[in-house]
Amino acid sequence: VKNIAILTSGGDAPGMNAAIRSCTLAALHFGHNVYGFLHGFKGLLNNEFTALAEQDVRDIIHYGGTILKSARCPEFLDENKQQLAAENLTKLHIDALIVIGGDGSFCGMLALAEYYKGQLIALPGTIDNDVDGTDHTIGFATAVNTAIDAIDKIRDTADAFERVFVVEVMGRHSGFLALNIGIASGAEQVLTFENFQNPGVELQNIAEHIKLCKEKRGASSYLIVAAENLWPQGVEQLCIDLQAYANITCTPCILGYIQRGGSPVAKDRIMATKMGVAAVNAINADKSMIMIGEISGSINEIKITQAVKHKKQVNGELLMAQNSILDIAELAKINK
Ligand code: F6P
Repeated sequence: VKNIAILTSGGDAPGMNAAIRSCTLAALHFGHNVYGFLHGFKGLLNNEFTALAEQDVRDIIHYGGTILKSARCPEFLDENKQQLAAENLTKLHIDALIVIGGDGSFCGMLALAEYYKGQLIALPGTIDNDVDGTDHTIGFATAVNTAIDAIDKIRDTADAFERVFVVEVMGRHSGFLALNIGIASGAEQVLTFENFQNPGVELQNIAEHIKLCKEKRGASSYLIVAAENLWPQGVEQLCIDLQAYANITCTPCILGYIQRGGSPVAKDRIMATKMGVAAVNAINADKSMIMIGEISGSINEIKITQAVKHKKQVNGELLMAQNSILDIAELAKINK
């Protein structure tokens, strides 16, 4: 019998509750005791925890957010705090800790490993999908769907007014969300880190493409999906720049935190459930310092050091598809 603790850290992601549920139920199934630390790494510093029983988790699979709460914990960069967290875990006789979060949380885990001798297991939970060693992170699929839903509505009003919109989506410094959302919402342009040259070139390309579309289609809606943190000073500035450069009037729209909320889609619920069970199996097998991922539908284990070190690359086929669709759409019109 082991004492297993779970925490969620960093940006919450739909499906974190499904992961908490499956870790807890699987651990209870094997006769372990389960504890949830609250507010991410802060809970480790403040000894803020609660025992988790079947009735605490059985009905949470469909909830967004995280019942364990989350937080960013910059103070965890301090070695004294890392040591304190390890001491607290050791005093409470916690044999294993499961951290559900993104790469910032995994860096926290690596730091903790310097002082804590129990088992450490990571589950990738972030809407950004920017974690190596897994095709998808918990929350990504739901965030893409939420954004598509919102952008479909923006398309309606954009169509009605024949307007140009720039929609900013989350993703921190990676383009998984922007590219997938852009393709799935049929955006005319997707601006992501992976295809961005520089503001001058991009401004020229966007302006030319908007004008070409207008020439070929007549007045119509035009949607640009842009990754956050990409355009200098944000998407409002991009609209100002387009106006100044080419007299194109463009409406900015920042989707923001709705992308983090909502009930998880089936993909996130099922993947989180599989990953939670795999985390407990790994603890049973006395493994440590690994992250559980899913590659091509199968559970994958990689070293946390590897998950943190490597930057996951956006699928080149998606980038190609986006570029080709733009060209093909225009060629089709020209040949008419
Ligand atoms: O990592 C998830 C995420 O939603 C990013 O997409 C975004 O850049 C960031 O968190 C926002 O963080 P905060 O909640 O601290 O504002």
